[in-house]
Order: sequence, then structure tokens, then C-alpha cells
Amino acid sequence: MAVRTIAIRNFRNHHTAEFQFGDGINVIWGDNGSGKTSVLEALYLLAYGRSFRTARLQELLRTGAESMLVEGNFRIADRQYKIKASQVEDGRKKYFINEQAVVGARQLIGLNPVVVLSPEEQSITKGPPARRRAYFDRVFSVVAPAYMSALAGFTRALRQRNAALDQVQHNRAPVTAVQAWDEALVEQGATIWRERQSLLSDFRVCLATAVKELADRDLQLAIIHTPQPPPDKQEYLDNIQTAITNDCRRGYTTIGPHRDQYEIEFNNADLRKFGSQGEHKISLVLIKMAEALFIRQYSGKTPTVLLDDLFAKLDFHRSDLVLSALGEDIQTIITSTDLIDLEKHGVDLTTPGSRTYHLEKRNGSKSAISN
Ligand SMILES: Nc1ncnc2c1ncn2[C@@H]1O[C@H](COP(=O)(O)OP(=O)(O)O)[C@@H](O)[C@H]1O
Ligand SMILES: [Mg+2]
Repeated sequence: MAVRTIAIRNFRNHHTAEFQFGDGINVIWGDNGSGKTSVLEALYLLAYGRSFRTARLQELLRTGAESMLVEGNFRIADRQYKIKASQVEDGRKKYFINEQAVVGARQLIGLNPVVVLSPEEQSITKGPPARRRAYFDRVFSVVAPAYMSALAGFTRALRQRNAALDQVQHNRAPVTAVQAWDEALVEQGATIWRERQSLLSDFRVCLATAVKELADRDLQLAIIHTPQPPPDKQEYLDNIQTAITNDCRRGYTTIGPHRDQYEIEFNNADLRKFGSQGEHKISLVLIKMAEALFIRQYSGKTPTVLLDDLFAKLDFHRSDLVLSALGEDIQTIITSTDLIDLEKHGVDLTTPGSRTYHLEKRNGSKSAISN
């Protein structure tokens, strides 16, 4: 899969901008604040219907503008796709695939996967457990439609059950109003747990491959998932029934896959508690490389890799390794403040599969300076 062109209007600091991408390494360079990350963010929006740096999509709309538009042309499994996202001032978003409106963003997911490596996503290793849950939920949804639909069903049932718990807490409903949701919750939740087990074990294999290719031989990176093993359906139902008094007192559902933890261990120590800056950075790189391998293996689609500020993030040796691991047959979009840096790393920007864009800070306008 590859992105051919992307056009954006009233997106972040960009009024209008257009980019054409080659199948190899593409570069967007310019000063800080010129809108480089925003271009990657626009592409990410077409892949996932969300941003990798904010949960509030209203922020994407250029200040003072009434509506924004992102439009991309893609080649996916030898077919052409046009994917479009629009948003008006009140925050409402619309998505289109080949001019057909789609409901919500779910239909986009998995169609044209991208993997983004950005300092904006360091919270995957540094943030609270909910951040890693959300991360793995997205990665698993990209490759497993069954996982995505179980997750959607579970989230609906959980919301209803929690609303009922809130009613019970305020003596406005009987306990049976809560229990009415248990069957649906457990059905979907058990599927999530089962799928997580097998998806995560495959993800770990990809992580081991990334570590072998990119890291020092003695580096160990592990993902610890709890509860381990997760309960099966019957156990889950028993547990949730036992917890009903506690749930009613607290006003929310205390047991289920929405409470899972994924912790990262770096050389056998909890990364979040003990990790240095450098260890966090390299861990994120390895996880992202694993994500690319994982998506390719499962979906047969090679994701476009977005490297945001690669050189600000990594030392010289490691960024070289990342570039060579990606190779020329993987479409890559790199942002950098400095073009010289890229050339020092041996990136050849004169090949036919390569494009270079320069962004200027003033108004987010751009000009192509090579190819
Ligand atoms: N909704 C918005 N409207 C106008 N400008 C914005 C909006 N959101 C962000 N910006 C500005 O866009 C600029 C570009 O940001 P960014 O894409 O992060 O640039 P870069 O990655 O090149 O440093 C920033 O200066 C930021 O203040
Ligand atoms: Mg940036």
C-alpha cells in the first residue's frame, strides 16, 4: 500500500498544501513550527480517523477557519482509493471512501495502515496503563476485524452497565438493571481477552525480530500483560457476579479487559519506574518497528512509515539502523529540521522513489525543491 498524494486545507497552520509521495523515502523539512508533523497527522487521520497527538479533533481545524479538508489518493493492493476527511467548526467530522460517505471512522481502519514514530507518542512507554491499552487496542484492531468489533460491542455494553451502576448508586434503579448487561459484556469481553492473548503473542515475536535487528545483543524488551492468563467466559461471569456489590458501591465496572495492564520491561526492570530517557526512546522505536512488522505479517499490507523528527529523537547509529531496516521497498515519510542530517545518514534523495518538500514557517506554504 502506498500514499500517492495528499491535499490539505485549513489543517493546523496550513491554509492549503499538496504533496506527492514516491514509493521510497520522502522528506518534509523545515523549521520548527512550519507544519511538518501536521502533514503526518493529516495522513494519520485518513488511516485511523484520529490524531496521534490530540484526542480533540477540533484542534486540527485552522484557527479562524470554518471547515477543513484532508484528501488522499492511495494505491492499496493495486487498486486506487480516494479517502477524504472533512470537519466543520462545531467539530463534526465526515469520512469518505471513493466519494462514498462512511459511518464513523471504523471502515477506514486497516484499509491503509500507517505506522508513526513521533516524539508525540512517547506516552506509549511513559504514560499510564490506559495509554498502552489504547495503543494495543488500535494495533490489534488494524489487523483483526473480529477484535475491533468485539471491542466496539464491549465498549457499548460497558457504557450502559456503568450508566446503570450510576443509577443504582443514586437509588434510582434496581441491581437487576446492571445485571441485564452482564451477558453482553462477558460475551464480548471474553472474546477480547482470547484475541489479546494470541495477538499479543504474535506481536512479541515481531518485537523480538526488531530487537535482533536494531538493538544491542544484550538488550531485553518484554511486554508484561495482566491478568495472566485472563479468565475464560465462565470465570469472567462468576467474577463479575461476585463483584456486583463492590461495583454498585463504586459506581463503575471494576472487572474486565478494560482494566488490563501492559507494562514494558527493559532489561528486566519496569521501564516506567526505572527507565532513562534513552531507554524510553529506544523502546518506542523498537515497539514501532515491531508494529510495522506485525501489520505487514497479519494484513499482507506494508504500512507507510512516518518518521517524525527521527534525528532529534535518536543517536546517529540508531537512526542509521532504523533507515537501513526500513530499506527502499518501504514507503517512508521523514520529517526533519535539517536536510544535511539526512544526507549524512546516506539517504539518497535523488532516486525516482524519493520526493523532498520544504515548508516555510510564515504561512505553512511549501515548495518542492527536488524531483
Ligand atoms: N488549529 C491550528 N490553527 C492554526 N495553527 C495551528 C493550529 N494547531 C497548531 N498550529 C500551529 O501550527 C504550527 C505547526 O505545528 P507542527 O506541525 O507541530 O510543526 P513542526 O512539526 O514543523 O514543528 C505550530 O506553530 C502550531 O502553533
Ligand atoms: Mg514536529
